[in-house]
Amino acid sequence: MVRFSRRYIFCASHRLHVDTLSEEQNRMAFGKCNNPHGHGHNYVLQVTVSGPVDPSTGMVLNMATLDAAVRNTVLDRFDHQNLNFDPLFAAQTSTTENLCREIYHLLVPVLQPVFLRSVRIEETENNFFEYSGTIPAVSAA
Ligand code: NI
Repeated sequence: MVRFSRRYIFCASHRLHVDTLSEEQNRMAFGKCNNPHGHGHNYVLQVTVSGPVDPSTGMVLNMATLDAAVRNTVLDRFDHQNLNFDPLFAAQTSTTENLCREIYHLLVPVLQPVFLRSVRIEETENNFFEYSGTIPAVSAA
């Protein structure tokens, strides 16, 4: 098995806020990220797939196929948008933890049968998050 990772960048804004918490509780939980007007990030998304090397092409997955899947499923949806307005974040905060998980679940069906190993997002140069789905079967590793 070989792992193949590729980076993508998108820009989006968000505000961390939970409607069921008081203003004070929201400020305690999220600090400046709770400011009413929101703020933006240049998110760096790293998508990693893994699988056997196709003997005819020498590749795990064609880069153009991966690019199209990520563009159509993730970049076109989130780039230059307010994450809070996306239905995925109607009932959960738009933290990068949740964004990682949602992007993972958006990509799994469009990449099949290739195995999506992980989705990693750098929110700032010092904060990064990674989601790998449920623990894969040993045979998929
Ligand atoms: Ni933020």
